[in-house]
Amino acid sequence: MTSATIKTILASAATNDRVTVKGWLRTARHGKAISFLEVYDGSCFSPIQCVADASLSNYETDVRRLNTGCAVVVSGVMTESQGKGQAREIRASTVEVVGLADHDYPLQKKRHSLEFLRTIQHLRLRTNTLGAVLRVRNAAAAAVHEFFRKEGFIWLHTPIITASDSEGAGKLFRVTTLDAGDPPRGRDGGVDFAADFFGRETYLTVSGQLEAEAGALALGRVYTFGPTFRAENSNTSRHLAEFWMVEPEAAFMDISGDMDLAEAFLKHLFRSVMDAVPDDIAFFNARVDPELIATLTHIVDSPFERLGYTEAVRLLSESGAGFEFPVAWGMDLQSEHERYLVETLIRRPVIVTDYPKDIKAFYMHLNDDGRTVRGMDVLVARVGEIIGGAERECRPDVLLARMGETGLDPESYRWYMDLRRFGSVPHAGFGLGFERAVQFMTGMQNIRDAIPFPRTPGSA
Ligand code: 4AD
Ligand code: MG
Repeated sequence: MTSATIKTILASAATNDRVTVKGWLRTARHGKAISFLEVYDGSCFSPIQCVADASLSNYETDVRRLNTGCAVVVSGVMTESQGKGQAREIRASTVEVVGLADHDYPLQKKRHSLEFLRTIQHLRLRTNTLGAVLRVRNAAAAAVHEFFRKEGFIWLHTPIITASDSEGAGKLFRVTTLDAGDPPRGRDGGVDFAADFFGRETYLTVSGQLEAEAGALALGRVYTFGPTFRAENSNTSRHLAEFWMVEPEAAFMDISGDMDLAEAFLKHLFRSVMDAVPDDIAFFNARVDPELIATLTHIVDSPFERLGYTEAVRLLSESGAGFEFPVAWGMDLQSEHERYLVETLIRRPVIVTDYPKDIKAFYMHLNDDGRTVRGMDVLVARVGEIIGGAERECRPDVLLARMGETGLDPESYRWYMDLRRFGSVPHAGFGLGFERAVQFMTGMQNIRDAIPFPRTPGSA
């Protein structure tokens, strides 16, 4: 007798094999002297139908009382199914009831809205949709590590608590052990953070990039993959307050190597996920976005478009499209512009480069024109910016001047300046928003459905 997951049973058990499944009931239908139990265990999209009849000793006492959500262990024999909807089913010889489910179990057979499901985060993981999202997410995470290992990158664990604002954008969550109601005060009456746990102000990291740069200048090629936090009050379908980021960083790499890396990485990611969890992707294609597989396949097979910011702005303003925010050189591209570029004008992923320095972070390499920086954003349909990256400013004097311009205190970035003083080399990297990638690969409309437990303004 094998006790295996439904995934391995469906893949390898032969007809007449004895099998045991351990899982939960998606549905239970009870006939006169026969019951049909649809059991899932999370290992794959498909549940398996188990047929139990009155010959079981606990049929009347237990089996007939089972309902959606109950946990069971079923042993029996694989048989060709008589009914339609499944090729094979298990003829149960025993059904052990492990955990009953109260009748107010909220996940009954009817379809629930994603909004409703977000109110029961602990239970929504059991739905078909979230189960499929989480398997896609898992396959994507495995593909991330596989890609970078193959490319010779070392996984670097960067800190979650940090004293530096790596984006210089001030969207930080403070970390403190001081009593919020009665903090110690300094001479000037302000909160005395010298008395705080770390002896200074600290925050949750917005990005592991700055530490990844230290890693790249030691190990050559590194990547981070971990949670990042942004206290931006963006209630959109593309923003989370806590999200995961993948950040490769490579020494001796310029902006064009960075773009090549980003393109190869995304292609690997999409291809691997389609290969690893085809049933889950097929579900999203059938239920969420009928173009999903075609889109992902198209991306894997075609080169990304590379476009300067100035050219992108020209294309957008000459397009004649009516935007809520009219485009002009110098402005940050809004989601509507990003989507128009990708979905209407170019019709495949676009990498926009050489943005005006005033709308990008202090660490991006300044171009010779003195106005633009070697930053790049990878834009895809629906989600817009999926990757943001740059060649880093490796010249200490230029970096110092940029910090000054952007109002950052060089004192708090002393260690970062050291990286330019001791063996500075051109280097580059990028950050992939992992949930945006999952959102894209599943076709889900809202990023809150691309992470198991979303954290957004007003909701934790
Ligand atoms: O463009 P961002 O802010 O770039 C950085 O943080 C760099 N330090 C990355 C690097 O060069 N190492 O963020 C990178 C990506 C974005 O392209 C987006 O996909 C995602 O992170 N992202 C978010 N995802 C969900 N919710 C948010 N609030 C996000 N903010 C950024
Ligand atoms: Mg960005």
